Amino acid sequence: MRIERDETLIEVVTGDITTLALDAIVNAANESLLGGGGVDGAIHRAAGPGLLAECRSIGGCPTGEARITRGHDLPARHVIHTVGPVWHGGGRNEEALLAAAYRNSFALAREHGLASIAFPAISTGIYGFPKDRAARIAARAALAEAGAFARIVLCCFNAGDAVVYANALRAEDAA
Ligand code: AR6
Repeated sequence: MRIERDETLIEVVTGDITTLALDAIVNAANESLLGGGGVDGAIHRAAGPGLLAECRSIGGCPTGEARITRGHDLPARHVIHTVGPVWHGGGRNEEALLAAAYRNSFALAREHGLASIAFPAISTGIYGFPKDRAARIAARAALAEAGAFARIVLCCFNAGDAVVYANALRAEDAA
């Protein structure tokens, strides 16, 4: 599913984010930036040990913020590492922190002059954020960047998640 707004193509795709040859892919990391499971593990495996070495030199990243590295052995030129919130039921500022993770990732990409960027479904795996709420936040964040990028990809790992993110993008685009 794809929409175009202000000359920005915003797409929801199903697949493995590590295969995307864009200016940047976003990693759903943890505050240590030293790797983990889920998409973080997949990105570090595909990027090779140079990514971990570069991440070590950064010294971590607070929840809601973002840091940039090179892509190393990935087809993507850069990795933007962001840390989404752990879902605790909604009373610990989780929605604002997830929105900040998207916003700060986009800001870093803009500062580096990047034109294309892909996001995984941040916080919806190990961190337990409800998918429909997370999808709305992702869709709103992407629409807010229309005009600033050529291509924004919301990359879901399975078709069911892609339906949730596509529905959210359609709804927020119409809102
Ligand atoms: N491509 C695209 N999406 C993927 C891939 C992939 N290769 N692999 C998994 N996903 P998660 P979180 C999806 O758990 O919830 C790590 O240990 C997955 O299906 O990776 O933000 C970190 O180090 C889900 O939809 O990230 C942190 O400790 C989405 O990516 C913690 O997990 C996010 O799931 C972060 O948890």
